[in-house]
Amino acid sequence: MDKFIITGPTALRGEISISGSKNAALPLMAAALLGETPSTLTLIPRLKDILTFSEVIRETGTAIDFMEQNNSMLIDPSTLSRNEAPYELVRRMRASFYMLGALLGRSGNARISLPGGCAWGPRPVDLHLKGFESMGVKIDLDTGYVSAALPSETLEGGEFTLNPSSVGATVNLILGAVKRTRRFVLKNAAREPDVVLLCRMLVKMGADIEGIGTGTLVIRKVDKLDGVTFSNDPDRIETGTYMIAAAMHPDSEITLTGCKPEDLGEFPGWFIKTGAELEIIGSTIRVKAPEVIRPVSVKTKIYPGFPTDLQAQWATLMTQAEGSSTVTDSVYFDRFSYVPELNRLGGKLRVKNNSVTIDGRSRLQGAAVMSTDLRASVSLVNAAMCAHGQSEILRVYHLDRGYEQLEKKLNRAGASILRVKD
Ligand code: EPZ
Repeated sequence: MDKFIITGPTALRGEISISGSKNAALPLMAAALLGETPSTLTLIPRLKDILTFSEVIRETGTAIDFMEQNNSMLIDPSTLSRNEAPYELVRRMRASFYMLGALLGRSGNARISLPGGCAWGPRPVDLHLKGFESMGVKIDLDTGYVSAALPSETLEGGEFTLNPSSVGATVNLILGAVKRTRRFVLKNAAREPDVVLLCRMLVKMGADIEGIGTGTLVIRKVDKLDGVTFSNDPDRIETGTYMIAAAMHPDSEITLTGCKPEDLGEFPGWFIKTGAELEIIGSTIRVKAPEVIRPVSVKTKIYPGFPTDLQAQWATLMTQAEGSSTVTDSVYFDRFSYVPELNRLGGKLRVKNNSVTIDGRSRLQGAAVMSTDLRASVSLVNAAMCAHGQSEILRVYHLDRGYEQLEKKLNRAGASILRVKD
């Protein structure tokens, strides 16, 4: 298991390019299975989660070719012959559960392992299963697997309301409905850009989806979907992560290229309250760190609210603010595994229920810390880059799941990160 040795404090200066979105790419890969002909996806990031999902898809007999050197992927589902996703793969990446919707949509049946938990909680899939049952799918659970089948070629569909709104359940139900339900209405659907992009790809393939980008989707069955060439979006969470990193050291000034600023929702509005300077020109975002970081309390919400995937990064920034602040996660109630690690670096954070209070400004001191999940890990990198002395970040495989060429991008901008094969 690799570790990072990071020497700080270092300012970030120069350019950082943004890669394709992990959370948008996974649904696009699943959607390609619904096509009668091959699909080509571009701006697909070279990440562990993408490789894992490729293995899950390959397990069905589908041909998938990832041309990593130019971030493009060819998926040819014409040889798809097994409607299964086994536990040993699904447990490694919970979004593999999207195979349920994709295989129901394509073949009318599926046997998918239930995903395990994750670093910070159970992360249930009850809404996925209830949603499929509501559209008429027969669902059986046995020995940790979901066996699902359509009682007929075409389902009536009906209406289902997500409570809470769920990105994964929205993606899964769309994938299952586009070729199968006469008319399916999904209410309180997630409006994340990842969902909008999936709908746009499916419509380009020939799907009939109304209400794209709103909380109510109306899906009417089409008999055939064709493969397409389709581009993924830039990663909005990677963008927000580097914006926050650039605000932590007073001498930092960076230009992010290849962004999609309109996908950031309300985040920029919160970001400038810290005193950071922000200039958005087309797909370029320039950030200049404030002399003094103002404490800003935030509460995460579903899109377009403050993203839960930037919660840990924000709390880390607040360790450098001149005063106290509170970060509340209303999406996941226990996503604070990074807190004890940040405190080891000299942070003063206290968790109570689904909030963490941060006393700034604390002088961070290098130490050995443990990565626990993707966004917690990158927060420790951000902290170590402005801590005094040397830090060791263990288990960086968590980072390799979601941040393409992280140390290369940051070192090019002035960081001092050494990856050591452990
Ligand atoms: C997606 O996870 C993202 N993952 C997560 O990003 C992100 O944190 C999350 O959406 C919220 O934005 C991918 O896109 C691959 P949810 P997902 O279903 O779909 C509850 C990262 O770091 N819920 O929107 O699993 C759930 O417990 C990852 O890149 C149910 O109760 O999240 C949570 O409280 C981490 N029952 C809330 O909904 C269900 O059946 C939102 O979860 C499903 C969800």
